[in-house]
Amino acid sequence: MKLQEKFVELRSKQQGILATNFYNFETLEGVLCAAKSTNQPIILQLTESSINYMGLPVAFSLAKSMLAHHGVEGWIHLDHGDSYELVAQCLDMGFDSVMIDASEQPFKDNIAITSRVVKLAENYGANVEAELGYIAKLGQDKDGSGFTQPEEAKQFVEATGVNALAVAIGTAHGFYDKEPKLDLGLLSKISNATEVTLVLHGGSGVPAESLRQAIDRGICKINVATEIKNIFMRTLKTKLATNEEIDLRKVFPTATDQVIELVKGKLEIVRNIKDQR
Ligand code: 13P
Repeated sequence: MKLQEKFVELRSKQQGILATNFYNFETLEGVLCAAKSTNQPIILQLTESSINYMGLPVAFSLAKSMLAHHGVEGWIHLDHGDSYELVAQCLDMGFDSVMIDASEQPFKDNIAITSRVVKLAENYGANVEAELGYIAKLGQDKDGSGFTQPEEAKQFVEATGVNALAVAIGTAHGFYDKEPKLDLGLLSKISNATEVTLVLHGGSGVPAESLRQAIDRGICKINVATEIKNIFMRTLKTKLATNEEIDLRKVFPTATDQVIELVKGKLEIVRNIKDQR
């Protein structure tokens, strides 16, 4: 099933889907073991940095073969693609979904490049995500302004034909200094203004109840990255501080296990929320 079709299915049941970034074999293994053990679908995301780290064919084929190996329903997605060229490379490689992030460009330029990407992706039957509004990236000011405006979201979706839209409603990438407050009223307005699948970036550190409320009000895809890197590296550091073992195959699984537990928890949150109430 195409990701666009999965979104329609999930939204009809008011369910969300987790989209997790991966960085190497171990973090991917952790995510997929969690998805398998909870029988949940998953979106596997690669940023340009992770693609550069592993190499595009390696990163893609690793994700593809491990999805098959674990028998998990999943899709491979380019996270925050910032150029038409990168998007085109990923589509040629076989990605199911791409994000073109021109959110820092003027509204009309964002529309222009997103429209070009949507046209290109049609040839591949791939899903396209864009972003509208200011969602602070790592290192950017978290108090920066620029929430997504419902009327602009409607115009943007109509002009571009994009499948999914990342919205700025109070989240930011990376950890938060204080608990984020999502503007759920605004989210409802955006959700009423457009039929597009809505995406929440910056899922790390957002309380479970806020994530549930966001799904209730129209968010379908929830992105989580920082918490995965964090738990993996912190566990590894602790383990290595008290252990002289040099066989990495005996050390890494401890950190992978923590990724599994973390992702299981996130999957539980985005599962059928109505079942949990
Ligand atoms: P976090 O790193 O804050 O979880 O955000 C992930 C994300 O939105 C990836 O696009």
